[in-house]
Amino acid sequence: MTVAAVVLAAGKGTRMKSDIPKVIHPICGRPMVSHVVNSLRKAGVGRIIVVIGPDSEQIKATLGSDVEYVVQREQLGTGHAVMQTQATLKNHSGSLLVIHGDTPLYRAETLRELVSFHERSGGIGTVLTVTVDNPSGYGRIIRDADGKLERIVEERDATPEDAVVSEINSGTYVFECEPLFAKLGQIKPENVQNEYYLTDVVPIIGQEYSRVQIFHHRDAEEALGINNRVQLAEAEKVMRNRIREHWMLAGVTMIDPANTYIDAEAELEQDVVLLPFTFIEGHTQISAGSVIGPFARLKDAKLGKNVVISQATVLDSILEAGCLVGPYSHIRPGCHLGEGAKVGGFCEIKNTIIGSGSKVPHLTYLGDTDVGDKVNIGAGTITCNYDGHNKYRTIIQNEAFIGSNCNLVAPIEIGTGAYVAAGSTITGDIPPGALGVARNRQRNIPDWTKHRGSKRRSSKEGS
Ligand code: UD1
Ligand code: MG
Repeated sequence: MTVAAVVLAAGKGTRMKSDIPKVIHPICGRPMVSHVVNSLRKAGVGRIIVVIGPDSEQIKATLGSDVEYVVQREQLGTGHAVMQTQATLKNHSGSLLVIHGDTPLYRAETLRELVSFHERSGGIGTVLTVTVDNPSGYGRIIRDADGKLERIVEERDATPEDAVVSEINSGTYVFECEPLFAKLGQIKPENVQNEYYLTDVVPIIGQEYSRVQIFHHRDAEEALGINNRVQLAEAEKVMRNRIREHWMLAGVTMIDPANTYIDAEAELEQDVVLLPFTFIEGHTQISAGSVIGPFARLKDAKLGKNVVISQATVLDSILEAGCLVGPYSHIRPGCHLGEGAKVGGFCEIKNTIIGSGSKVPHLTYLGDTDVGDKVNIGAGTITCNYDGHNKYRTIIQNEAFIGSNCNLVAPIEIGTGAYVAAGSTITGDIPPGALGVARNRQRNIPDWTKHRGSKRRSSKEGS
């Protein structure tokens, strides 16, 4: 379709009480405005122009060069914001979809239906409206005696009679470009907020051409506008439900969907099982047959088939097929676990590669480490990777065996098939096949308890 879209995102968002621009606040891990842009793209909109305020570097960093930007220097209202796009759109002849950056719940199909309704009607403008139980905060739709749209009244400017109307302006419209810009100049900031309201163009167009059409949408939830944190949480709830339903219908099992949290960017294969209190965040990808949870948090993680993670955190790491993680372990960013690797209970792993079939079963810290294949790391192994200034790598070659409770002081290399004796603090390389022992030899003191007993007695007698 030859439709361009204007996304209004320059507002201060004062009701959010935040240092972050309103439209950057995430919903299911994705910035609000990105949801809007995604739906527009899916609906087939070609050009997207985002109206931003003067200090909107964060919005630009989020949306990148995928969209065009127009700066609204002063926030003088939604009508004023649209006016700023006139020069950019001067060669655009088709329809113009106007949408707010703070309404992230529209489905692409809804936007497509809105545009095709508008184009079929042959009118100058169409407003998407919904009917809600509680219209407070929204502009009210005032219809004339024939049921046609007469005007839109903001809550702050509404008479008690207007205020009871439950049909509201969603803030999403389609206009014909030329007549819109021709008439926008006529709106005046004569209202409680002294702002140029886009909604005031409706009666002007109505008088000059024909009434602006109403596209009444049945699903009021989609039009939810976010002005404060309560509405932010409402939108989060709606979006989470949608995401869960999508994945369940795609073959993912959730024992307790209400306590399973999946971000918008996640990708799950069929026969993944998500147990309660599991958080799948960021761009996490989980392959078929994996079982995650309970109490697991994955962020930007990539999992092969049949991975099992329970009560663990996995951040920005890759786990190949058949890995086992947890309970109570923390896989920090930059890890890569080979096929069938195991990181068991109470371990922390950072920026570390673990080869296939290797095991780190309990109570271990591995930082900046390369572990080969089929290595066994004993309980209580610590890589000493930091000297207070720099980080160093530890290299543990294939089939090496690290005994329990060892310190490996990096930089260091443990050769193929080498052994480290339990309780050692290893400060130098161990050649392949060798045993590294770095602890005092055991000494037994015969009859020690007997002597200790007589010493105790004599000290008591002396006191
Ligand atoms: C607006 C509508 C209201 C509608 C509601 C739906 C107007 C006058 N009111 O009210 O009828 O029911 O949305 O959610 O249009 N913005 C700018 N520049 C500005 C002012 C706002 O870009 O100078 C942007 C904001 O970033 C926001 C959008 O426009 O994304 C709407 O502004 P907001 O202040 O949230 O308007 P509402 O009070 O929600
Ligand atoms: Mg709003």
